[in-house]
Amino acid sequence: MIKAVRGTRDLLPPETAVWNFVESVVRDVFRAYNFQEIRTPIFESTELFARGVGEETDIVSKEMFTWEDGERFDRRALVDAWRRAHAGKSFEEVESYSPGEGITELECFYDETHVAEIVMFSTRADEAVLNALAEAVSKFVGPPSHFNHFSETVRGRLVVPSPVPANSESMTEDGIVIEKLHGAFHKSSQSLTLRPENTAGAVRAYIQHDLEKRGLNKLYYIGPQFRRERPQKGRYRQFYQIGAEVIGPASAGSESPARDAELLEMLATLLDRLGITGWTLELNSVGTATDRSAFNEALRKALDPVKDKMCGDCQRRAVTNPLRVFDCKVPEDQPIIETLPRISQFLGEDSRKHFEAVQEILKSVGVPFTLNDRLVRGLDYYTRTAFEFTHGALGAQNAILGGGRYDGLSEALGGPAAPGIGFAIGEDRLVMSLQESAAAKDVVRKPDAYVAPLGAGMNAEAARLARELRRQDLVVELGDETFRLKKSFEAATKAGAKYILIVGENEVKAEAFALKNLATGEQVSVARAELARSILSSS
Ligand code: HAM
Repeated sequence: MIKAVRGTRDLLPPETAVWNFVESVVRDVFRAYNFQEIRTPIFESTELFARGVGEETDIVSKEMFTWEDGERFDRRALVDAWRRAHAGKSFEEVESYSPGEGITELECFYDETHVAEIVMFSTRADEAVLNALAEAVSKFVGPPSHFNHFSETVRGRLVVPSPVPANSESMTEDGIVIEKLHGAFHKSSQSLTLRPENTAGAVRAYIQHDLEKRGLNKLYYIGPQFRRERPQKGRYRQFYQIGAEVIGPASAGSESPARDAELLEMLATLLDRLGITGWTLELNSVGTATDRSAFNEALRKALDPVKDKMCGDCQRRAVTNPLRVFDCKVPEDQPIIETLPRISQFLGEDSRKHFEAVQEILKSVGVPFTLNDRLVRGLDYYTRTAFEFTHGALGAQNAILGGGRYDGLSEALGGPAAPGIGFAIGEDRLVMSLQESAAAKDVVRKPDAYVAPLGAGMNAEAARLARELRRQDLVVELGDETFRLKKSFEAATKAGAKYILIVGENEVKAEAFALKNLATGEQVSVARAELARSILSSS
């Protein structure tokens, strides 16, 4: 049996109803706060994440699904190798154009014997390429023209890569020399990565589509993300995020603490609407780039005498990106990490004021939070406000969502200055914490009625009736005329239908149907026109 790959999973009904419920509540909340949806590709160039999320982060250095997207013929490498192989001869690149598909270069040269050659470089010596070369040669032979600046014989030469480790030359019947050159004439076209998160992609799209022109962008996304983490409860290799980004030029207010507070208040509303209680909002400021460079310097100093006692990752991070030491999960390293300086001691005046303003608004709107100056988040782009919502019921993987400001990210990706703030909820974890709550129990809508055709020729009548009922917003399951009555009852019960509706010849004639409540066993005959109302009024 072929199974789903470790760390991935199938979401099956009825659980998918909970996912749909979550997503519809979330979309409603986003609408109320004037967020609009963005959908970015599931894979991006690797460089986006390396530059956006940071080379030293666990995500980029260990967890990405990255591949080289095929190999491409490197024509230039072949031309250069050929030039080197013929370094003793004098030749000149007279023309260069691409005469057809698969043919990449046309050159002419004279050697000392005054035999002119038209040299073509291609991946293979197939008929199309040889024909094109023969045609090119024929243009140079014959009466003088603006093309024909050769006075001697003109010959065609086709240079192709050789799979065997030796160079060779052969000649076709038409006198075309085929030269095979051994070497590496392929380059990998591009490195691609399945997105491990969506902020870098959203900011890339912001830059690419000049969204700056729109002022403040309030974007949200729902979709799968991929990280090669060790799978466990609440941690998957394909997981789903519901995220949002508020980004725009500073002139549009993107830097204001009001944006941070609004986002956090929206999250509190969202969790409340979903019926999730018992969450904790942990809040910190990781400072501006300037604050952080002072902090990193202090960390480097503090780590220098102790780093040798730490894990290999930390020893490396202590030099390259000391902030990332806080991501360390190795238990033996924790006492050392505990003694390190804290970012709160390095916040400049601006960061401090910004952070205080965020807290003030949160207090005024009644969103509870706790300050945690150990919280630095595992992605490099964060500046100033950083936060996580945790939930007790989740166990070890208790971070239900995380986010923060990333005021320099757009510039790091080559875009304009565009302060921003966002978050991503782990939808898998959100659904897990919901399943324990009562709200989730009511989200699956079972069929209101099971329409059971009874006897030959009744499928058509049953289909007509089901269509009428479904048009009146009923959830209807449809049986089959080959089922005996007993089997129809069993199928209706299995589907969880409230009622079974028998459609037999007599019923159709009478325009009235036997409607039986499957829970109580009570049965009534109801006129066709009254059926939907009768069923809906009872639920
Ligand atoms: P993050 O903290 O890496 O932030 O991920 C956000 C949330 O995604 C986590 O809190 C967790 O609930 C969920 N999550 C992460 N990894 C997994 C996994 N392997 N399995 C299940 N759930 C997981 C970001 O991704 C940032 N892009 C958030 C952001 C948006 N910051 C600013 N804007």
